Order: sequence, then structure tokens, then C-alpha cells
Amino acid sequence: MMVSSMVHVIKTKDLTKFFGKRNIVYHLNLNVPKGVVYGFLGPNGAGKTTTIKMLTAALRPTYGEIKIFEMEMPRERVEIMKSVGYMPEVPIAYEDMTIFEFLTYMGRLSGLGKEETREQAKELMKYVGVGRLALNKIKELSSGQKQRVAFASALIGNPELLILDEPTANLDPLGRIEFIGKIISLAKEGKTIFVSSHIVSEVEKMCNYVGLINQGRLIAQGRISELTRIEENEYDVATSDNVGALKFLREKPYVRESWEEDGMLRVQVDPRFLDEFFLQFPKYLSSQGIRLKLFRPHTSPLERILMEKFNIGEESD
Ligand SMILES: Nc1ncnc2c1ncn2[C@@H]1O[C@H](COP(=O)(O)OP(=O)(O)OP(=O)(O)O)[C@@H](O)[C@H]1O
Ligand SMILES: [Mg+2]
Repeated sequence: MMVSSMVHVIKTKDLTKFFGKRNIVYHLNLNVPKGVVYGFLGPNGAGKTTTIKMLTAALRPTYGEIKIFEMEMPRERVEIMKSVGYMPEVPIAYEDMTIFEFLTYMGRLSGLGKEETREQAKELMKYVGVGRLALNKIKELSSGQKQRVAFASALIGNPELLILDEPTANLDPLGRIEFIGKIISLAKEGKTIFVSSHIVSEVEKMCNYVGLINQGRLIAQGRISELTRIEENEYDVATSDNVGALKFLREKPYVRESWEEDGMLRVQVDPRFLDEFFLQFPKYLSSQGIRLKLFRPHTSPLERILMEKFNIGEESD
């Protein structure tokens, strides 16, 4: 069958992995549309690395199907991996190579010519911030530096799909911010990026798509903006006069609860009356000469989805 336009870069059907009798990944149906930054989010031991190893043919599924670029993994792995940049959780086995040797080796493996490889390796070392360490051996690097080199090696050959297993785990705070910026610009170039993480705020910053995995099961999947399109009803508020603000909040029947905590007000609003609240509260504050200093949902939208979904998972066990 000819397919004219590929919709999903990665698609799995009932992907399952047992280790002995333990099911580590269970009936996973991943759909990763072309061009998204897909955050594969779940707690330690959820099955993220196991899934990623199956996606990259480092591990055989117990059963289930994997399609990447509409080709079958692992049967067509050589062809598939030509267009995949993979950054494993534990980066780089070639400890005795220098960074430059390692990257040129990886470049040659991905099918680049000699000159092209050297050029790309040099560029990428600068890009990930290890330019000055080019002649250092991998074993002499810090774990963050190794992770940067692993990122460079995933990018060599300019692959269409990046599969990154907790790429920021060892990065310093500035390195994380830079990394997120890089992911966003790589996505703008049209690459599809599948990235695992257990850090919600990071996923919120760099991903527009998410798959939540817990205990080997996919609990939710979709565009983040769609998954979180539920009305908020709990807010953090700070004002120049919290006592004055509380007076208003306690008078309104649609404010279910309001209290002060660490100099901040917490407000729970009946979701049916959010419009009234948004209209009347600022009006009241300004009529009293009270300044609004901060107003935000109490938990981030993705965090709330995570808590809801993970609780549901626990109850149904
Ligand atoms: N080779 C193996 N043999 C037996 N059990 C394994 C093996 N590899 C992983 N597991 C188990 O599978 C489960 C999932 O592990 P996995 O590494 O996929 O989790 P993860 O989501 O990547 O977690 P983390 O966030 O800590 O990286 C864990 O309970 C782990 O103990
Ligand atoms: Mg892992």
C-alpha cells in the first residue's frame, strides 16, 4: 500500500515487554505525529527507557508492533535508524575515544562522507558547548559533558527524528535552559522529537505533545493544549492588602474557599461562576486601591492532569 502523507512518525500497537513474569510495558499505543515535540512523561520505573529501547531496536518487544516512518521495527531497523538520532539514558560506551573521534565515528556510521563528518563534528561540538574539549577522552568528561556529547552524536547526520532518553538529567541549570531552546528550534526546522522526562515543568516548556506513562501503561496522550483545556478553579493570588482582598472573597457565594498561606491567598472558585469572579474581583480591588501583584492557577495545567490521571490509575488497581 502506498501512503502519500505520513501522519505518525512513530506508531506502536499493543507494544508489550515482559521481564520474566513482570510486565514492564503493557499494551502501549503510542502515536507521535510528524513535527511535534512529544514529551514521554512518567515517574522512575514507569517503563520509559524500556519503551525507548524497543523503539530503537536495542530491545525486542515481547509482542506488539512498532512502526517508524511507516516502516516496521525491528525488521527494517537499518533503514529506519538512518533517519533517527538516538540519545540513550546511559550515554556513550566508547570511553577511550576523544570527543572528536567519537563524533566522527558516529558520523561515518550514519553514512556521512569523511569531510562532511569532520565538519559536522566540529560544528556540533561548538553547538552543544564542548568545543574546547574536542581532544579529551570520553572517560575524562563529567556526566553533564558526556550528555552534551551524546546529544551531539544524536544530531550528527541531521536526522529527521530524535529519540532522547532524559537528555537533561545531568545538565546544570543554564545547560537545561539552553537545551530547551535548542529543542524548540530543532522542532521549528521540522524535526520530530520524542523526549522522555519526569520533570513536568521541563515538558511544559519544550513539548507540545505528551504521553503519560505509569506502571508500563499509557494513561493519557495528546496535544498538551487539548489535554489541559479544562477550567481552572483554584488560584494563587497576592495583593498589596490581602486582608482587604479576603473581605471581598469571603462575601461572594461563588468563592468556595479562600485563605491566606505564606503571604499568598488561595482561592477556590465555583467553576460555573469563573466569569463573574474574573470580572468582579479586579474591579473590587481597584475600587479599594488594592494592587494585584500575582494571579495564577494554583497548579500548572499539566501537573493537574498528571495528578488526576495518576490518582485514577491507583484507584483502579
Ligand atoms: N533488564 C531488565 N530486567 C528486569 N527488569 C528490568 C530490566 N530493565 C528494566 N527493568 C524494570 O522495568 C521497570 C521499568 O524500567 P525503565 O528503565 O523502563 O523505567 P524508566 O521509566 O525509564 O525510569 P527512570 O525514570 O528511572 O529512568 C523498572 O521496574 C525496572 O526495574
Ligand atoms: Mg529511564
